[in-house]
Amino acid sequence: MTSRLPAFYNLPLEQRLEALAQQAGLSAADRQAFELPGGLELSQADHMIENVVGIFGLPLGVALNFLVNGREVLVPMAIEEPSVVAGASYMAKLARAGGGFTAGSDPPMMIGQVQLLDLPDLPAAAERIQARVREILEAADQALPGMVELGGGAREVELRSFPETPAGPMLVVHLLCDTRDAMGANSVNTALEAIAPLLESISGGRAHLRILSNLADRRLAWAGCRLPAAALAYSDFSGEAVRDGIVEAWAFAAVDPYRAATHNKGIMNGIDSVLIATGNDWRAAEAGAHAYAASQGGYRPLSRWWSDEQGALCGELRLPLAAGIVGGATQAHPLARACLALLGVKSARELAEILAAVGLAQNLAALRALATEGIQRGHMILHARQFAISAGAAPDEIEGVVRQMVAEGEIRLERAAELVRQRKG
Ligand code: MEV
Repeated sequence: MTSRLPAFYNLPLEQRLEALAQQAGLSAADRQAFELPGGLELSQADHMIENVVGIFGLPLGVALNFLVNGREVLVPMAIEEPSVVAGASYMAKLARAGGGFTAGSDPPMMIGQVQLLDLPDLPAAAERIQARVREILEAADQALPGMVELGGGAREVELRSFPETPAGPMLVVHLLCDTRDAMGANSVNTALEAIAPLLESISGGRAHLRILSNLADRRLAWAGCRLPAAALAYSDFSGEAVRDGIVEAWAFAAVDPYRAATHNKGIMNGIDSVLIATGNDWRAAEAGAHAYAASQGGYRPLSRWWSDEQGALCGELRLPLAAGIVGGATQAHPLARACLALLGVKSARELAEILAAVGLAQNLAALRALATEGIQRGHMILHARQFAISAGAAPDEIEGVVRQMVAEGEIRLERAAELVRQRKG
C-alpha cells in the first residue's frame, strides 16, 4: 500500500474513489459511505442530535504522501477551505526526503475534575482524600466496568487547592483515567459523578462541578520531521533561503501572541479537518491546543522550527490530542467509520500521532508559502479553478482558463465565463 498516488488530482472523482478503495482495501460498506451525500442518512442524523432538519455537507479530500513512523497513510480531511489538503499533501511529499514524520504519544490519559466547595477545613480535606486514593480509584473503576475490561480505568488522583476564590476555599480533585481507544469524555464524566458522593463524605464539603478537563496535557501527541535544505528549493528560492525564511517565520510566532494565534490556527486547519472526517470532537482538541499553548506563561506556538548542524530544516509539534477510534460518532457515522478504515489506525494513540504529523505538515505548508511568495498566489489559483468550473469549463479546459486568469491577474467569474465562451466558440 502506498500513499503516493501520482496524478490522483487529475482523475475523475469516481476513479479517485476507486483508486483509494483499492489502496486501502476498503469494504463495500465503507466505500458506499463515501458515495452517500454527506456520508450519512437523514434518518441516522435524526438520532444524533436534536431538532434535525438536514445534513450539512463539507468537502472531504484525501491528503497523500504521508509516511508516519514508516507507515504509508492516506489522510481524510473534511474542510471548506481551499489549499489545506494540497498544502498537507505537498509538505508530506517533501518530508519524505527526510524519511517522513516520526511521531509519538502519551498513553490515553484523560483528566476529570470535581470541584469541592463549602469545606470546613481545606488542608485537612486534602489530607483525608490523599489517604483514601485507593478507595476513590476503586469507586471510579466500578462505574467503568467496560473500560476496565479493556485494560483502561482510573489511575491517579491529584489535588489542587485554591484557598481564596470568589466561591470561597476550593479543592479541585483530578481523576486521571486511561480511556484506551475512546476520546473518553463520557467515561470520565460517568466516573466523576460516581465518586462525587464519596469525595463529599471524605472532605465534608459539597461536590459542585464534575466534568472532564479539555486541557488534556497528560495525553500529548508529538511529531517531528527533518528536511534536507535541497528539498525546500522552489521557484527562484534556494532551499537555504526557504529554510531560513521558515525559521524566521517561527521566531515571529515565538515572540508575538498575535502571530502565534494564527500560526496555531494553521496547525489546527490540518488537525481539525481529520478530526471532523473521523467523527471526533474537534472543539475539544481546539480548546486543549490553545489552553496548552498558553500553559507556560504567555501564548506560544505549538510547533518549533530550527536549522540543524547539517543545514537541514527540523520541525516538531507537541499538543494535547484527545481523539478516539471508538465511541461518539466515530463508529456511528458511516463516513467517519470509513475514514478511520482509510487511515488504517489500530488505536487512538496511532490516530493522535497521525494528527500531530498532519498538523506539522500543515504548519510547514503555511510557513513555506508565507516565507516565500505569500499565500495569496496559491489561493488565487484555487479560486480561479473554482471560477473556471462554475463557468462551465470542461475538464480539459480548466487548466488553460486558470492559467490565463492568473497571468492576467484578473480572477473573476465573468472573466472565466468569457474565456470559456471563447474556447467553446
Ligand atoms: C489560514 O487558514 C492559515 C494561515 O493563516 C496559517 C499561518 O498564517 O501560519 C495561512
